[in-house]
This record gives sequence, structure tokens and C-alpha cells, in this order.
Amino acid sequence: MIMMRGGTTVFVLLLWWLLAAPLTSYCANVTYDHRALVIDGQRRVLISGSIHYPRSTPEMWPDLVQKSKDGGLDVIETYVFWNLHEPVRSQYDFEGRKDLVKFVKTVADAGLYVHLRIGPYACAEWNYGGFPVWLHFVPGIVFRTDNEPFKAEMKRFTAKIVDLMKGEKLYASQGGPIILSQIENEYGNGGIESAYGSAGKSYVNWAANMAVSLDTGVPWVMCQQADAPDPIINTCNGFYCDQFKPNSNQKPKMWTENWSGWFLSFGGAAPYRPVEDLAFSVARFFQLGGTLQNYYMYHGGTNFGRTTGGPFISTSYDYDAPLDEYGLIRQPKWGHLKDVHKAVKLCEAALVATDPTVSSLGPNLEAAVYKTGSTCAAFLANVGTQSDATVKFNGNSYRLPAWSVSILPDCKNVVLNTAKINSATMVPSFIHQSLNSNVDSSEAIASDWSWINEPVGISLDSAFVKLGLLEQINTTADKSDYLWYSLRTNIKGNEPFLDGSQTVLHVESLGHALHVFINGKLAGSGKGNSGNAKVALEIPIALSAGKNTIDLLSLTVGLQNYGAFYDQTGAGITGPVKLKSAKSGTTVDLSSQQWTYQVGLQGEELGLSSGSSSQWVSQSTLPKNQPLTWYKTKFDAPAGNDPVAIDFTGMGKGEAWVNGQSLGRYWPVYVASNSGCTDSCNYRGSYSSSKCLKNCGKPSQTLYHVPRSWLQSSGNTLVLFEEIGGDPTKISFATRQIGSLCSHVSESHPSPVDTWDADSTSGMKAGPLLSLECPFPGQVISSIKFASFGTPHGTCGSFGHGQCSSSNALAVVQKACVGSKSCRVGVSINTFGDPCKGVTKSLAVEASCTKRHAQRIHL
Ligand code: GAL
Repeated sequence: MIMMRGGTTVFVLLLWWLLAAPLTSYCANVTYDHRALVIDGQRRVLISGSIHYPRSTPEMWPDLVQKSKDGGLDVIETYVFWNLHEPVRSQYDFEGRKDLVKFVKTVADAGLYVHLRIGPYACAEWNYGGFPVWLHFVPGIVFRTDNEPFKAEMKRFTAKIVDLMKGEKLYASQGGPIILSQIENEYGNGGIESAYGSAGKSYVNWAANMAVSLDTGVPWVMCQQADAPDPIINTCNGFYCDQFKPNSNQKPKMWTENWSGWFLSFGGAAPYRPVEDLAFSVARFFQLGGTLQNYYMYHGGTNFGRTTGGPFISTSYDYDAPLDEYGLIRQPKWGHLKDVHKAVKLCEAALVATDPTVSSLGPNLEAAVYKTGSTCAAFLANVGTQSDATVKFNGNSYRLPAWSVSILPDCKNVVLNTAKINSATMVPSFIHQSLNSNVDSSEAIASDWSWINEPVGISLDSAFVKLGLLEQINTTADKSDYLWYSLRTNIKGNEPFLDGSQTVLHVESLGHALHVFINGKLAGSGKGNSGNAKVALEIPIALSAGKNTIDLLSLTVGLQNYGAFYDQTGAGITGPVKLKSAKSGTTVDLSSQQWTYQVGLQGEELGLSSGSSSQWVSQSTLPKNQPLTWYKTKFDAPAGNDPVAIDFTGMGKGEAWVNGQSLGRYWPVYVASNSGCTDSCNYRGSYSSSKCLKNCGKPSQTLYHVPRSWLQSSGNTLVLFEEIGGDPTKISFATRQIGSLCSHVSESHPSPVDTWDADSTSGMKAGPLLSLECPFPGQVISSIKFASFGTPHGTCGSFGHGQCSSSNALAVVQKACVGSKSCRVGVSINTFGDPCKGVTKSLAVEASCTKRHAQRIHL
């Protein structure tokens, strides 16, 4: 009997384990086949978006991830940034914005998956491509090739991250959210792998084996790596990946970087990518067999501190992404893509069941049909850039605008066309206010500032002397942007260089920027640009008889992050440095003289960025437009919760800290060139990073994000280091707010995706609807600034009536919308009457939202 009872106990325990185990651990088996990633036996269509955790704050992460989920994402993709986590060899840092585990768990908490791109080479417009600069000093090392010291370090770090994730049970195979991992990054891109010769190929194989040996239990990918060995999946990066094919029929077609816009450089105009084109690229990818697509970036964020790569990548990494730098949804981008995702998901069952059957419907017109048994989904594309077309498909007629895809989840009804936007547009604005709101006159604000002068030239005991000119990165190890090259030279009375108007100093530098001080005074500056970092400077200088000091301040603006052997690009004044006398033709080359070097600034050594030094001077004569000045002030945070930026207009170049946290490099005087911009870029036709630019002739970046979580309500410290000279009293706050809410929908638009009814034979009966919704909780539509049904023109903020317009549009829209959080109005003659027969009409509306006023309570 006892045996029996024991047996029963074992049986009960076994039963409990069988029942309870799946409840307590959600281990997912992630594999793949030629069609898709397979999660727990199910092929999946997955929409993914990149959010790089250190480009925002942990306080922002839950909201960013929730907005990603609301936008229809299934997966969040991020790189892992080696140089953040291991700033000094074997000293790891996973705190704050570097808390990778917390980030991955935040994504998991929202129920999304993670694609962890360990790299550890990242590119990503990140300093040195993500490699720690100490790696450069490992004896015998050559990066990203079949080199033992490099491979040992790469393996050690990759294993460290895999172990960290495993320790926290974060792989899907352990019940966590990570379904994919990436090793390396775009090594197979044009000319990179081949530049390393045959060692490149053996490195790829080594990296693949090394990754697989770490046994994560989930698949690995290599992007832009046509020769990725099995079982690694090679994936595509680019503005379009519909034509991409993986290197084996056993692997799914996946897109790891669909560039949602492009990055901004200091000195460059701001790139943007019209959502019609981005939506087109996504729909084309799913049309032609793709099953995982990732937006790079979904939230770009901010390059805080000295994290930007480059050189010359700006501090903002907004990227024209669906979530803007501040984490607010960018409309209509976010909303239209959300609709695209819903439309694609309506096709999921058909997409994963089979390969598409692709056929031509005429020149530039292509149909793809996914049909098995009872399921059928179709995509109809017009890849022509000029004309709209009408196509016949399955006996029905469809109007296809140029450069667009229509999605038909039942092979009959169009749920979405990529060029027809149902989503509302929001025009954000910045409201400016002075840094010190309770003090109005600039005089009074000035009195709130204190300052410290940074000495010109050598001031630290760590300075050293060397013959000749030194390369900068080897000298500073990137401990600072700054390296002083200082020379004392004796000019004899009979030398030709005493004639000031006729003497020039010639300096050549690998970059990235340079300030020349002669006898303590700024004599000239030079800077490179994102296309060419080098600086060649020729400036008139005035020397005096006897001792003269030439102090050259050379600085980096983010280390190179891309290209074969990019780590060897170098920076700083490699020469020649020459004195020339125009009058006599005499030239003296100073390059091989005995130079004195100082890495970094005195203020950096003293830790001035925290604001807590006894040396701050506060007198009424605030120095303005003086180079090399540290400034400090106190301020109260702007009221409310809207995201905050500081507008650095009035300053030159430098770095800024709020309560000791670096906002990044500011450089509002670097202005984009005057040409190449268009505010209404034609989305039809292939996009490139220079196709759609705005902000020409204006500073590349004036506004710098200050995360709310870095601010207390009062008594915050702002510290700046200004290199060139500026007026800190001109600095102001800007709070990010939503201005107008607009929408423009025509009679030929499909109904909103969410009105799709799979059971109804006609799919969508509602007809086109214009939808508006206030973005923030507690808001209602307070007024309709414009409404026109007929042939209105213009864009949000500048709509105008066309020749044809219904007289009741404003009244109808006001009645439907004012006082509500959201509203929908039928875009049809049934709602408005017909102001012009035989013409396709549209409805354009501009509305504004305000907080709902507290209701008066009558007793
Ligand atoms: C890709 C690279 C990314 C990023 C992107 C441009 O080539 O993989 O890391 O640098 O270009 O934003």
C-alpha cells in the first residue's frame, strides 16, 4: 500500500509538473524555415523597430515601448554598445541608461520580443562604431578580421553579454523575450569584407561559429552578409529590400534595417523620408515574400554625452522616426505605419502558409497572391513613378496610384493603399521661454551666470613633450575631445615673420576641428565636415620679436564609425605646420619641433561639469563671446510634463551638462548649406538619404533634449563649456507641444483598417472616413480651424478651399467633433451634399485640442 501511495504521490507530482510547468515558464522554441521565423511551431509575420536603450532614459523606456506596441510592433531591435558597457577593459557598467537587462525586461513586460544585435561592432553613428577605444591599444590587434587578439576580445565580450542574458533567463528558449541575435554588422557591405582579403572570409566563418557555440537557443543573423554560413540567417538592410533573397532556400527573407529616415550631421540639412514611400517599401517587402521587417529607427533619440559617432554626427538622432527624438508620436508617420501593420497582419495566415505567386498586370504593375485552400491575400503594386493606373485583378478593377501598393486581405477588397493616408497629421511646435522665468531683463539673467576661464594652452601637470606632431586618438585615447599642441618659438628681430600683415600660419589636420591661439589670443578656427573631416587652415598671424606661443587646440567630434579599417582613420594635427612669409617667400616648417601636449582641459580635470567647484566667478561683468569659457547657472524646470529642450542659439560650440548629466555636444553655429532642400518632397521614386532634406541655410541643430527625469522642479544646475565664444544669456528653454491636428481624406480612400470585417463579403462597408483623435489623455477637440469638402489644397496649417467646396463642411465637422476626444466623419456626398458632380472630392480638416475644462458642479 505504501508503495501504492508513494506511486500516487509521484503521479500527482508528475501531473502537477506537467500542468504547472507551462504556466511558470513560457519557453519558446524559436527556429526558422524558408518562409519565416517559427515560434513554438508557428510561422510568424513580425514587425520590428529599433530603439537603442542609451539614446533615451530608463524613465522613457516603458512609454517608448508601449507606443511601439500601440503602433503595431511585435519586436524591439537594439544593438549592444560595447564601449558603454566596458569603458575600461574588464570593468563593466550596466547602470542607468546602460541597464541592458532592464531594457530587455521592459520590452518583455509589454509583451514584445527582442532582437539583440550584439555585434559587437555596431556602426550606428556611435562613437568608434561601438568599440571601446582601449581595444585599439591591445598589442597586435587588427579589428574585424582573422586576428587572434581581436577575436579573443570579441569572443569575450559577446560571451559576456550572452551569459548576462542567460543568467537573467532572457532568451526565448529560457522563457524570455529574445528571439534573435545578431553577430557582426554589415561586414559583407560593398568593399568591407574584401578589403581584409581572404582573412575577411575566415573571420566571417569564425564569427558565425563562435556565435553558434554560445548556445543561445535562438537563431543568429548577420546583416548584409551574403556569405553568412549556415545556420546563420543573412538579412537585408536598406531603403528597400523587396528584391532581396537569402543565401539559402532554407532561410526566411528578413529585413533588419528599413531606414525610416536618415541621421543628421552637424553642418548638414535635416533628412526626412515621406511615409508614403516608407509604407510602400514595407508593403513591397511583404508582397514579395518577406516575413520580418524592422524600422531603423522606430525611436532614434539622442546621442547624449560623447556617444555620437561620425565624425560630425549631431547630438539629435531623431532619424525622422515614427517616434520623434522626444518620444512623441510623429504623425502621420506613426499612424499610417500602424495601419500598414494592421493590413499586413490581416494577411498573416495567408502569408505564412505559402510563397507568393507573382504576376505582371502591365508595365510597372505587379500582383502577388498568397493562396492556399480557403485563405487568400493579395498585394497589387504600381512601381511606376509617374502615373496612376487602373488594373484588372480577378475580374475587378483597382485604381493604383503611382509608387503604391494596395493590400487585399481577401484577394478582393482593398484594406489599405500605401499612398492613401487615413491617419491624422500633427504639427508639433516648440514653445520658448527664458531660462530663468522669474527674471525678465537680460541684465538680471546675466547676473545669474557665473564662469571660469579655461586657460589657453598648457595648464596641467600631465602635459608632456615630444618631438614632432602626434596623431590625436593615439594620444588622447578619446579620454577627451581636446588635445593641445603647444609650441614656444623664438622669433629673432631680423626674421621676416615680424611683418604681421604678411605672415601666415599654415596647419593641416586630419580633423575634426581646430582653434589656433597666438600668444594667448584666438587667431582663427577651422573645421571639417561629415564628408571630409580634414582641416587645412591658412591664417594671417601677428608675431612679435622674441618668444611667441603657438597653441593649437585640436578636437574630435565623434570618432569614425564606418568603413573598412575605419578605426585607423586617425585625427588631429599630423602636419605640416608652417610659418610663411608672403613678402620674402620664406617658409619655416615647425612640424618636427619639440611640441608640448596636453590631453583634455583643466576644467575637465577639475570636474567642472558637475558645477561644484569653488572657483566659479560671479560678477556683473559676465564675459560674452569669449573663447574657452565655462559657464554655470541655476534654473527651475519648465512647468508641466511636456518634453524639454534647451535652445542653444547664441552659443558657438561646446558641451553642456544638466545636474552633471551631459546633454551632448552643442554646435548651433554650424549651418547647413543653402541648397538641396525641399519641404514637399515627391515620395514617388527611389528614396536616398539626400533626396528629401529640410532646414537648408539654418543651423543643423539648435535644440537639445533634456530628459525630464534629469530635472528637479527647481534649483537645477546647467554647466556649459564654450569653445569659440557665445552669449549664454540668449539660451532659452523650448517645450515640445502638439500644435494642430489635421487630416485630409478623399472619396477614393479605403475605409480605416479597423473597420475591416473579415466575415462580410464586401470586406469594408463603411466607406472613407476622416478620423481625428487628440493625442493626450484628458484632451478634447476644442475647435475646428478649417474644414472643406470638395477640392481643398495645401498641407496642415495652410489648407485652402479649392474651386469646389461644400458650404456646410465647417458646421458638419464642428458638430461631429467639437467637445469629443475623437471623431469620425464620412467622406462622402451623403454627409456633405455634392458641391461638384463628376469630380473626386476630399475632406480636409484642421482642428485643435485642449485639456477638457473641469466641469462646474452645481449644488
Ligand atoms: C547601416 C548600419 C547602421 C547605421 C545605418 C545608418 O549601414 O548598419 O548601424 O549606421 O547604416 O544609420
